[in-house]
Amino acid sequence: MSSLLKITNLHVSVADTPILRGVNMEIRQGEVHALMGPNGSGKSTLAYALAGHPHYEVTDGTIEIDGKNITDLAADERARMGLFLAFQYPVVIPGVKVADFIRHAVSNVRNPDRREGEGLVPMREFRKEIRSCMDELGMDREFARRYLNDGFSGGEKKRMEILQMAMLRPKFAILDETDSGLDSDAVRVVSEGLSRLSGPQMGVLIITHHERLLEFNPPQYTHVMLGGRIVETGDAELAHELHADGYAAVRERHPEAAADNARTEAAAV
Ligand SMILES: Nc1ncnc2c1ncn2[C@@H]1O[C@H](COP(=O)(O)OP(=O)(O)O)[C@@H](O)[C@H]1O
Ligand SMILES: [Mg+2]
Repeated sequence: MSSLLKITNLHVSVADTPILRGVNMEIRQGEVHALMGPNGSGKSTLAYALAGHPHYEVTDGTIEIDGKNITDLAADERARMGLFLAFQYPVVIPGVKVADFIRHAVSNVRNPDRREGEGLVPMREFRKEIRSCMDELGMDREFARRYLNDGFSGGEKKRMEILQMAMLRPKFAILDETDSGLDSDAVRVVSEGLSRLSGPQMGVLIITHHERLLEFNPPQYTHVMLGGRIVETGDAELAHELHADGYAAVRERHPEAAADNARTEAAAV
């Protein structure tokens, strides 16, 4: 049985400003969904709310995995339920190597009751596993010995993300690649990594404006967000149209959501 990530009537406020105004979405394991929409429509807010970021207050609605309500769970508990959010992981940890960090992350997910210093995935097993993942992804094994984010390029940050994803084998991966100003190496790493890792075991939500990413990973569903709601859902063709034509027509078709979008932007400081 494939798992289901279900978002129902999700309302989210940031600093008492309503941003998401009733988001509904269902992602099944094995499906690729793209989330698009103009700046300020609430895409990153949805990603942070899914991650359980404390600044994003869910004021109504639910997030469920296979019928279990995870709306109030902490970020690490969500990870154990099989949710992966690329950006929720720390950016700089002095003296920690890529492999050490991933070994801890993998151990936290696989041995939920472990105490610090105990229950780590055995080194030999871990090494074998990370090597086979890196080979599968075409990554240089040397990368695992690098210090975490020590002068990482855009592409190396993405290698880190993709390698974690490969090792954690989440049921659902959320990638917010919209505003990160990805260089071409980074776009390639994410495009190729995702296409190698996605399959029947993983559901993916890609938030992006990068056409190349979606060409490599054609979405079965494209959702358009405006004013904190999903106003349209289509297939890969819709993503093409939006890339070509922009959002003017979407705003015209959904004047109320367009007005909400403008209101949120005006409230932002
Ligand atoms: N921390 C915050 N404080 C106040 N307003 C915010 C904050 N984060 C986001 N917003 C506002 O919420 C709206 C949606 O932002 P965001 O989710 O980042 O949109 P998108 O990712 O679609 O560009 C914007 O108007 C933005 O200014
Ligand atoms: Mg964003």
